[in-house]
Amino acid sequence: MENFDLIVIGGGPGGYLAAERAAQAGLKTLLFEKNALGGVCLNEGCIPSKALLHSAKTYLHAKHADRYGVRTENVTIDQSEVIRRKRKVVKTLVSGVEAKMRQHKVTVIKEEAVITGKSPEGFAVQSASGTYTGKKLIIATGSSAAIPHIPGVKENLGEFVCTNREILELTQIPEKLTVIGGGVIGLEMAAYYAAVGAQVTVVEMLDHIAGATDRELSNRLQKELEALGIVFLLGHACEKVEPGKVFVKAPDGTQKVIAADKVLLSIGRRANYADIGLETIGVQTTKPGIVTDAMCRTNVENVYAIGDVNGHHMLAHTAYREAEVAVNTILGKPDYMRYHANPSVIYTVPEVASVGKTEDECKEKNIPYEVKKLSMLYSGRFVAENEGADGLCKILVHKEKRTILGVHLLGAYAGEMIWGAAQMLESQFKVTHGRQIIFPHPTVSEIIREVLWEFPDK
Ligand code: NAI
Repeated sequence: MENFDLIVIGGGPGGYLAAERAAQAGLKTLLFEKNALGGVCLNEGCIPSKALLHSAKTYLHAKHADRYGVRTENVTIDQSEVIRRKRKVVKTLVSGVEAKMRQHKVTVIKEEAVITGKSPEGFAVQSASGTYTGKKLIIATGSSAAIPHIPGVKENLGEFVCTNREILELTQIPEKLTVIGGGVIGLEMAAYYAAVGAQVTVVEMLDHIAGATDRELSNRLQKELEALGIVFLLGHACEKVEPGKVFVKAPDGTQKVIAADKVLLSIGRRANYADIGLETIGVQTTKPGIVTDAMCRTNVENVYAIGDVNGHHMLAHTAYREAEVAVNTILGKPDYMRYHANPSVIYTVPEVASVGKTEDECKEKNIPYEVKKLSMLYSGRFVAENEGADGLCKILVHKEKRTILGVHLLGAYAGEMIWGAAQMLESQFKVTHGRQIIFPHPTVSEIIREVLWEFPDK
């Protein structure tokens, strides 16, 4: 039995970064991963979907190159080549994580781990090769696609019905794709497949797409995606699936049948905390995930939970930060999570990026706010580079305190700009502070400055 200062279970963005930071700080660290290092993010989520979406953007650019004075002919998309490149991207990045683990002398065991209890040496964790103990434990076991009790879904999973895993491996573009769930995964994949020529229908139970996104932006995004050819069935719930068919219930109670060659199931994710032995040490869980505080501590001393498994935000970048907070807490360095400045991006064509409060949230919480917005056409670089396109920048400010409450962007580069807005929220910037920043010119980010100048001086 080998003893470690820290055992990390799960090698996704949360787990591998926690292992790296802990080992860098001198802790003898063991990382368990039952599949590939990098987890869902690197292997079947964030990164491969971005590789596909970049192929779609390149294809659309080439197809519409004449808008920029560039003549192209017979532009086609080669899906098997898109998938081959995606695999290459994934391989490169996974090897990068492996190299980092070696560099920092993290012991990596590529086996499934289960917690079996506590002994004087620490927490006991068992895998196929033996039992290991750790004085501290970080649980970073991630999440899996939620599989609902909809007749026909389980039976056809992996073939007719895809999750985020299979949809990123299709070497042929389906003629007709039905996406169940108009959230982040559904919209990104709908955008990709519609851009490359599939007939895409998105079935969404709610009366809007993109979940908690600012409603004005989600409505605008819907219109943009409709222009790509996507058909949205809002207020429709999926009731049954059969190979070739998806049965949905419309808001008026009538049933519709949609013909489909493939179905993408993207109705949310569930934290992976069953079957890892939490009960042997008494870690508290609720339905969304393992219960943690702002320092990522569970109810059991020396046990931490980071990333999707704690159910807070289910975003890779949140997991990164939680990894650092957990390791800092272990090292006795004061640190805590500040979720209010946590940005989110939907990498559709065009992108949506947000940080902070939406108008609906402010109304719900009775926060007095003022809102200003401008079209992206107020940005010189946007106009120069996005022929025929438009977008939106919307900023919410506290009516009395003048602090920036939320920044919401729709348009090309939105995902690359939002960190600056997050920084403003993190630092509790007032409008005047934001205006004092020198933005590089010409950049699309200047739109943020422009909107800040729309607020009256107070
Ligand atoms: P989601 O929670 O974003 O969206 C699921 C949608 O499915 C909801 O709008 C819900 O109303 C709808 N739905 C549920 N049951 C339904 C039914 N029977 N019929 C029709 N619609 C139904 O979940 P999604 O897209 O699966 O994403 C999972 C997680 O992955 C999210 O937490 C997200 O944050 C994360 N993610 C983040 C990305 C990013 O940051 N760019 C990219 C991909 C995933």
